[in-house]
Amino acid sequence: MLAASFGCDAVGIDLTPEYVDVARTLSEWVGLTERTRFEVADATRLPFEDATFHAAVTQHVGMNIADKTRLYSEAARVLQPGCMFGIYDVLQGGNGQIRYPVPWARDPSISFPISAEAMRQHLTGAGFNILNWRNCTAAGIQFIDQTLAKLRTKTPSLGLHLLLGDDFLDLLENLGANLREGRAMLAEIITVKRP
Ligand SMILES: C[S@@+](CC[C@H](N)C(=O)[O-])C[C@H]1O[C@@H](n2cnc3c(N)ncnc32)[C@H](O)[C@@H]1O
Repeated sequence: MLAASFGCDAVGIDLTPEYVDVARTLSEWVGLTERTRFEVADATRLPFEDATFHAAVTQHVGMNIADKTRLYSEAARVLQPGCMFGIYDVLQGGNGQIRYPVPWARDPSISFPISAEAMRQHLTGAGFNILNWRNCTAAGIQFIDQTLAKLRTKTPSLGLHLLLGDDFLDLLENLGANLREGRAMLAEIITVKRP
């Protein structure tokens, strides 16, 4: 999407080889192999030189990584100063612990969402200034409600169930409930690496 929208070269990583295989296949299908590269890698130990990239994003991954200090210091390390880092992530809400299972974790053993305040501290501590912070919780609830209404009527041949498994409706319902009850929040955060 980044390569197609901005005409840039893009490098994607994930710890799970299947995600990387699918990313390569999808990129091939849409003719973007020249502009994209995908690698199995750990976001807390990036296999890239310092100041390699002009921009970076994480999408729904921070809440699966315990070591936020390393996650965000690695993002800062591989970015050039003055460049942007965008995050779309699940945060801990202020109204009680998240109820499991949810789409990113069946139990708390692989789930590490932090509060908005802790997120601010991690990002600024890693060398980023926060330019914009959008609370996307209401939009997320609306999306989940619409998706559930559609999926309850008919499961499409291609869809989230292929990724999440047969109980995907329960997982989505739980996420919606967590968002509604203030146990979880969705945030889109745009930052810039300090010079
Ligand atoms: C909820 S999934 C989201 C996947 C994808 N980013 C998306 O938005 O569809 C979380 C992903 O984080 C990946 N992950 C967990 N720990 C990681 C780490 N230390 N480094 C890189 N990826 C990691 C998992 O393999 C999983 O694919």
